[in-house]
This record gives sequence, C-alpha cells and structure tokens, in this order.
Amino acid sequence: MTRHLLKISDFTKEESEKIINKAIEIKANMEKYSTILKNKTLLMLFEKPSLRTRISFETGMEQLGGHAIFYSIKDSPLGKKENIHDTAKVTSRFVDLIAARVFKREDIRELAKHSDVPVINMLDDFAHPCQILSDFQTIKEKKNLLIDLKLSYFGDSHNNVTYDLMRMTAMFGLRMDVACPKGVEYSPEQEVLDEDAELSRNTGAEVSIIDNAMEAAKESDIVYTDSWMSYGIPEEQEEERKKIFMPYQVTPNVMSAAKLDAIFMNCLPAMRGYEQTTDVIDGSQSIVFDQAENRLHAQKAIILFLLDKF
Ligand code: CP
Ligand code: NVA
Repeated sequence: MTRHLLKISDFTKEESEKIINKAIEIKANMEKYSTILKNKTLLMLFEKPSLRTRISFETGMEQLGGHAIFYSIKDSPLGKKENIHDTAKVTSRFVDLIAARVFKREDIRELAKHSDVPVINMLDDFAHPCQILSDFQTIKEKKNLLIDLKLSYFGDSHNNVTYDLMRMTAMFGLRMDVACPKGVEYSPEQEVLDEDAELSRNTGAEVSIIDNAMEAAKESDIVYTDSWMSYGIPEEQEEERKKIFMPYQVTPNVMSAAKLDAIFMNCLPAMRGYEQTTDVIDGSQSIVFDQAENRLHAQKAIILFLLDKF
C-alpha cells in the first residue's frame, strides 16, 4: 500500500523516531547519501508561497542524487480545465513522489487518494508534518531525549503548525500548554482536540488549552510560536489580529517564566514585534535557524522512508 504523509499522526511514534534518528545520521554523513535517489524525481505543487520548504526540498533532492520540480498551481490547468484526480493520475506516471502545499485539507486528501506514489503535505490548513519532524529532530539535538518535556505554544492556535505539534506531543507522551485567545477562530478545532485525546489515551500526554500566557510558560522546556498572519489571511485583518494576539506575544517576561534552559522556537517566517519580540528571536535561547536548517535533513529522511530506502 502506498504510504502518504498528510499529518504527523499518519506515522506512528516509532516511525517518527526512526525518521528523526535517520535525519540526525544523514546530517552527519551527507556524502554517504549523495547518490541514493539517482533517477528519482519529486514533484512539488505549490498553491501558497514558501522560502524554507521549497528550497530545502529542492536542495535535499539534489543532495540525494535526485531531482525536484517546482510547479506553481497557478500555472497549471488544475481547478480550471483539470481536476485533482487527473492531475494525481498523470503525475504519478512521471514522478516517484508528490509534495503539495495547498489551502484546503480536502485537496491534499483527494490528491493522495488518487496518487499511485507517496504524497507529502508541505502545509495545508490542517497540518505541517515536515516542520514538526524537523522540530522534533532539533529538540532531540538540544535536549538529547524526547521524554519528560513540556512545550508551551503561544498565539494563533487555529493553525496547522499548532495542530501537528499537539498530535506529536500527544504521541510522545509530553506536556503541552496551548495559550491562545478564546473563540473558535483562534483556538484548535474540535476535530483536532478529539484526535489529540485519542492519541494521548495511552501515552500519558497532557495537552491543555489555556488563555493565560504566563501560566502556560511555567516549567516549559520549549517555548514555541507561529505567525499571527498565516499564508492566505487577508491583510485587512492584520490590525485586529495584532490586538487580539498581543497578550500572547513571546516576550522576555514569558521566557523568564519558563525553565532557565528553555529554548525558543518559531517555524518561520517570523515578524519581530508581532508573535515574539526582537530580543527573544535574536536572543541566546532562540534556536530558530537550527530549526530551519533541519528541514533539509528531516525531509531527506522522510523521502527515504516513503521510498522504502531504510
Ligand atoms: N516554515 C516553513 O514552512 O516556511 P516556508 O513557508 O518559508 O516554507
Ligand atoms: N501557520 C503558518 C506556517 C508557515 C510555515 C502558515 O500557515 O502560514
């Protein structure tokens, strides 16, 4: 059966651990993998902008001896003269893997349903699994272990990255406090809360949604935030969202409520003065660039896993 990665819980905890360990090994031995994907092609379909995802996938395929095609959905007949079914069927005949960054979760599910090759979600409105595997690789590198940790997340929580962080902490049996404003448009949707409860059932994870940022920061090993203006949010909402999310801005005060050796993470792109202050993102506890670099290594491991290469 063809495996896909549409959200992080499509992999078991054991599979994620295997991928993270492989990513660490590849990072230390890049030359060893330089021909493993000879004659293999990855198609990348983009409906939204990207810096990290596009460049890390393209570079990663090149470094593995393969090839990546960047394809902007606005240049394709998709949605105008062709449906997702036909796009999936046709491209599966040409390439070995398809990755897609789309607005709607239904679209990537449809793509995976009809694709004969593995499909990787490069971000939709429901998940960002490549980001989360890279993040957990980074956490493992910094903290050595992926147990007994508390992650606190701040800000927009009706959010792809938040959802996959919640799934991953649930699967790994960690503690997570999600600090966000009340209201369905800013907090996690019920489907994610239900899935999270199910994933936590046997792992001892404790994932809570709270509205007090300082409370959430307490005892945290990892302080995490994401953009208040995710791709596709209309510019005219910016001023209002800024006001709503400001109580959840990661400030030096928030960092000082966390553990002394807490790390600060943001998947990027980041706006200084919005989801975190400049001194936090540019300060000594910030590991955002290590986190970004690991997109390259973790995605190589994801690709090799899906192509049954380890
Ligand atoms: N973190 C992340 O996915 O960044 P891009 O939007 O630049 O790809
Ligand atoms: N939540 C953000 C993540 C960007 C990598 C967005 O969807 O834009």
